[in-house]
Amino acid sequence: ISKAFTARAHTNIALIKYWGKKDQQLIIPMNNSLSLTLDHFYTDTTVYFDSSLKHDVFYLNDEEQDASKISRFMDLVRAQAELKTFAHIESVNHVPTTAGLASSASAYAALALAASKAAGMQLARQDLSRLARRGSGSASRSVYGGFVEWKRGNDDLSSFAVPIEENTDWNICMIAVVIDKNRKKISSRVGMQRVVETSPFYPAWIKSSEHDLATIKKAIKERNLKKVGAIAEENAMKMHALNMSASPHFSYFEPATIEVLHLVELLRSEGICCYYTLDAGPNVKILCSAEDSEQILKRLAVKFDKKQLLVAHPGPGVELISKK
Ligand code: DP6
Repeated sequence: ISKAFTARAHTNIALIKYWGKKDQQLIIPMNNSLSLTLDHFYTDTTVYFDSSLKHDVFYLNDEEQDASKISRFMDLVRAQAELKTFAHIESVNHVPTTAGLASSASAYAALALAASKAAGMQLARQDLSRLARRGSGSASRSVYGGFVEWKRGNDDLSSFAVPIEENTDWNICMIAVVIDKNRKKISSRVGMQRVVETSPFYPAWIKSSEHDLATIKKAIKERNLKKVGAIAEENAMKMHALNMSASPHFSYFEPATIEVLHLVELLRSEGICCYYTLDAGPNVKILCSAEDSEQILKRLAVKFDKKQLLVAHPGPGVELISKK
């Protein structure tokens, strides 16, 4: 039995979205993306290799799961480490149970670090990001804290995330409005591929997300929430417009999603600086300054239960922790 390692990784929210792969096997994206790693929502994963195991075993929140998907990822670790032994993997998702925000990003970033360490490897963070990417694209970014850019690259070696501002002291805040905690109807993997193959607007998305990325990086440096928020909001809406232009078309929006978008727009018309973004699901994430968060929460509380409103701030990159 190898030594056990436990890693903690936080989820991230993309401000410039990753939506489309150039290579589905290696998970090479069509465009660069940029995210903010969040505190509060994280996954702890413990891995050790055990020569008495006949296959990998995987526990999520203390319940045994089908390990076939995770085994494919572990095969990559075994190949890199020249190891033949199977592993015991235990993950705990520290996302409020009703959140529906459990994310493959924190899961694969934590697994990449814990598994590579247990396999005896000492990966540089760039290589850790590349490994996490193979599990889920967005996981490449959760290796770092704060603002992170995933450089698309053009092959396995050149596609990895880099930190933009790891320990940002910017007093910003992300409020997640949980509308539906159930699994998404169309996974991001399937949704983005359908868009790449069928949306007539896809080339325009690539072009405009390049522009969005360049301008948001500047706005982050300037600490300009108005600009960062506006660019992120528009980028998210362009991504969701792609979905509606795919064939067959689809959308992650629910009626309550639209209600939140309208409320954010109303608050903005009242002079409160807040913006929204959405991923492959109906939940809305609101970007605002920490000072305004109480006021925004109060307005959201008129329509939503307290349990549906989660607040997060910039969080750290993946790290080893000692298991309690
Ligand atoms: C909308 O990283 O979950 O959240 O690489 O297929 O596992 P796979 O997809 P995933 O997609 C995330 C899509 C997104 C935007 C983003 O996080 O950039």
